[in-house]
This record gives sequence, C-alpha cells and structure tokens, in this order.
Amino acid sequence: MNILGISAFFHDSAAALVRDGRLVAAAEEERFTRRKHDDAFPARAIGWCLEAGGIEPADLEAVVFYEKPLVKFGRLLETTLAFAPRGFRQFLAAMPPWLKTKLHLPRVIDRGLGGGYAGPILFTGHHESHAASAFYPSPFEEAAILTIDGVGEWSTAAWGTGQGNRLRLEAELRFPHSPGLLYSAFTHHCGFRVNSGEYKLMGLAPYGEPRFADTILREVVDLRPDGSFWLDQSFFGYGSGLRMTSRRFDRLFGGPARRPEAPLTDREMDLAASIQRVIEEIVLRMARHVQAETEMENLCLAGGVALNCVANGRLLREGPFERLWIQPAAGDAGGALGGPLAYWHGHLGNPRVADPQAGSFLGPAYDAAAIEAALRPFDAVAERFPDEAALVAAIAAELAAGRIVGHFHGRAEFGPRALGNRSILADPRRPGMQRRLNLAIKFRESFRPFAPAVLAGRQGSFFDLEAESPFMLLVAGVRGAAPVDGRGLDRVTRVGGPLPAVTHVDGSARVQTVAAGRGTRLHAILEAFDRLTGCPVLANTSFNIRGEPIVHDPADAYRCFMHTQIDSLVLGDLLLRRESQPPLAGAAKYRHSFPAD
Ligand SMILES: [Fe+2]
Repeated sequence: MNILGISAFFHDSAAALVRDGRLVAAAEEERFTRRKHDDAFPARAIGWCLEAGGIEPADLEAVVFYEKPLVKFGRLLETTLAFAPRGFRQFLAAMPPWLKTKLHLPRVIDRGLGGGYAGPILFTGHHESHAASAFYPSPFEEAAILTIDGVGEWSTAAWGTGQGNRLRLEAELRFPHSPGLLYSAFTHHCGFRVNSGEYKLMGLAPYGEPRFADTILREVVDLRPDGSFWLDQSFFGYGSGLRMTSRRFDRLFGGPARRPEAPLTDREMDLAASIQRVIEEIVLRMARHVQAETEMENLCLAGGVALNCVANGRLLREGPFERLWIQPAAGDAGGALGGPLAYWHGHLGNPRVADPQAGSFLGPAYDAAAIEAALRPFDAVAERFPDEAALVAAIAAELAAGRIVGHFHGRAEFGPRALGNRSILADPRRPGMQRRLNLAIKFRESFRPFAPAVLAGRQGSFFDLEAESPFMLLVAGVRGAAPVDGRGLDRVTRVGGPLPAVTHVDGSARVQTVAAGRGTRLHAILEAFDRLTGCPVLANTSFNIRGEPIVHDPADAYRCFMHTQIDSLVLGDLLLRRESQPPLAGAAKYRHSFPAD
C-alpha cells in the first residue's frame, strides 16, 4: 500500500512516500526549487517521490496532509476576534493564501497530482503528525512522546505515549502560549530570521551570560512545574499583527530589535544565552512531567524545538529518561512522513516495521552516467579509481593533508542536517579550519563552529557522550577542551583542545555518530582517516553556501565547489581537484543568487 504524505504552506514544504509502513522516498521542496525553506505546494518533491517509488498517482491508496487546515483557519478567525481590532491586519494579510489554496486543499492536491488520483485525501492533526514521526520510526516498542514547536492548528506542544502500533496524545499546550514562538520572538529580536535563524541564536548563546533569564521568567513567562506556561501577550505581536514582539518587549530588554547584519553586541549574546536557558528549563520540566505521568524509560521527540540540540543534550544528561530518539526532520517537513505513518499504523492498525527511516537517506541519488552528463558542460577533470577502497583512501589522504572536501554520494538526507552524503568534510584538529570553512566556503558569520562526525562507538573517547547521535541532534562536552574566558565573538579564534574546528566557545560540540551500513560512505571515510591520523573524527557541514539549500544535483555540487574554496570534490565515484579544473566564471553572481538567511 502506497501512501503519499504532504507538508506545505508554512515553511519547509516536503513530500514522503510510505509503502507498507516503510519510507521509500522523502524530500524537501527547497532542494528542487533552490529556494531555502520553500513553502510552496511541493509539486516537484511529490513528482520525484512517485518516480522513486516507480508509481503513478493512480497507484496511491491514500494522500495524507500533515495538518487540518479548517481547524487552523478556525484558530486564525478566533484569534482575530480575540485581538480585534488589532488582529484585523494579520487577518487581511493572511487571507489571500487561505482563499486561494489552503481552504481548497483537496482541489490543490488533485491538481498537483495531475488529476490522476481518485483516492481519499486525509488530514492528520499537526502534532499528531509530529508525534507519529517521532515514535513510529524510533527503535522503541514503547515510549513517551513529546512534541514542541511554534504552532500547528492550536497545539504548541503535546505529549502522549506510543505502544506497538498505537499512539495516544494525552495533553497539549495551546496557542498563543508557545515555546517555539517564544524562542522565535527572541530570534527576531536578535536580528535573525524567524523560522531559520533559531539555529544561529542557539549558536550565539554560549557567548553570552543568561542575565535576562530571571526577567523572562518573572515578567514574560509564567512557567509551571509541569513545563506548561502562560505567555504575557502584551510583550508579543504575533497574536495581533505581523510583528513578533511589542514595544513593551523592547523596553524590557534594553532597546529595539537588532537590525539584520548589524554587528552583534553583548546584549544579543546575553539575550541568546537567556532564552536558551529558559527553553531548556521548559523542555526539562515538560520531560520530567511526562516521565512522571507515563513512568516510561524512552522518550521520542519531534517539532521544531526538538532541533534545539543543546536542550536535547541536557535532557539526555539530566532528564529522567534513559534513552532519547529524535526525529531528524523534526520541523514541519517531518510532518510529511508523520501523516502517512499515523494513518498506516494508528488508523489502519498495521504492525510496526523495524527501522523504517533507516539513516534518513531518503532523497534522490545520481548514477555515474547522470554525474558524467552533468559535468560535461563544465569540461570538468575527474580522477577515477580502481575500486571503492582506493577512492576512500584518496579522500582520507586529501583530508589528512588539510584539504577541504565536498562529498556528494548516494541518496540525499531528509531533514535539515547533512549526514555525510551532501557534506563538506575537513580535518577538525587544525587551528584556523573553523574560520576558513566559515569565511571562505560558507560565506557566513564566523561565530558558529562546525559539527563533528565520529565513528559510532568511539564518541566516548572524544566527547562526554555514550549514547549514539546519528542525526547530529545532541550537544555534548568535548574532552580536553575548556570554555574560553572573556567576552566577544573573537573568542572563537582562541578555542583550544584536540578538535578546535568543531568545538564551541563553551567547550561543547554538536555530535554525529556514524555507524556502518547506514547508507553513507562517511563511515568508511572516517575509518580511513583514523588509520592515517589516529583520529576517527571529521568536521561535517552541509554542502551549500549561506542562504543556499543543500546542493541537490551534481551540477549544483560542482558550481558550489568551484565558486567557493573547497579544495576537492567527490561526485559519486569521481574525485575532482580544484587545481585541475578549467576556470569557471560567475562566482560573485553565484554568491549573490541566494538571499542571506
Ligand atoms: Fe510543527
């Protein structure tokens, strides 16, 4: 039975194809359209999912949309009335897309499938989709489930339990009291973009002192012992207008929002540290409450706030649960796979399957012929190897020599993190590598460190982490690294320890553990790098520049390689060195073709 899942019209539109409970294909629309966080109807992702599954729209038994648009519309109407007349502006601004598409989804989906589909179109609740995406792909027979995000229909967080193929949500927190929107309000106030800059805010937090945390908890958030809370709406604007925060918020936190790209000051760093502290407290309290209610040992997480890997790391270290599993596509893209799984298991009662998401390598792959065809217009010069082992040894030698390698191989990752198949790799031990990667490759703010990928089983030697972290969603301390004292962003240049390119100023790292046989060559590369250097750790960052969606096809990869200072590119089974390539014009144009995120 083929079920198509769709998530769309908010941000990170995506499609997924689930066959008999197993994920056949899943992809975000942004990868195809090259518009980051694209929220359009995911026509191209859907087309590709069907192609990957070898089916036509007529072969689908069901299409599941990840939330209930009519309920969401009801929330918009109710909120507008509650905040009238201030909310009227938001209402007018939000109307056109609702009238054009969101209220007519069956017709939009029908049209998107070329009219060839006659089966049912079903709608799951937003947090039901998140919960299903957290529990069904997890390795747990039974687990507590916690979903936390900005807002779906009404829910902003929910908890429940999963047992076998059954999933039950027990309680929810409702709009406008939202952990995700609270974090996004500070993201906005610190001059980053809502729904994409939250990661930057988390990265900025270790530079600051949480001197506003008490103020937030005293004035803005009434946080209860069970993690639920009440937000004083006079500090916010998202309920009544198009602003995230109000003037009262500005007054409380020492001035108006930082303008995007303006220099970062101590105030933003302290605000980032403060809201990070508060969100961690919220997540920990919620988890403790859920554990007390369920008495379970395992916890599954999803929703955008589950991408806060610093909070996840604390939850693993301090929280009451023994084991965590976090959906890698924890944001709304993951709703595309949660919807079909909720329907297949929860509604139809089908049994679980082992590891349905595998390593989350669910996107497109390109064979040797497609790669050669893509390279031909560039007159690219590539080296071929007698076998896979020789290629892997050559990649490891490049990395050990301090060269930065773009690695494009196998199926693309589903979810915001590159896990090895669309990755830029580098030697994490080298001082200066963090700066070089940030400024010469990614063209982004230099304050953020990169993430380490480490051979699974060896993480305990380098990090304060025993659990596996296959999706790079846990932050842990780096052994032998100390926090850098002082203030200011230049502290990042003084990070010491054994792995400076992947160590944050507080001595922590966002760890990815890489096991064998999970759909990526990265495991073999780490083994070969370990043989050469004695270090089974590499820096792993997504293969893109600032504002660009992760590279999608071989031509994207080649352009990104040539227009940055990546030293070598691996495309499938080919190795391309920068110095062997003919010049390629258009670097500046390329860089400016992606809006700053
Ligand atoms: Fe969500």
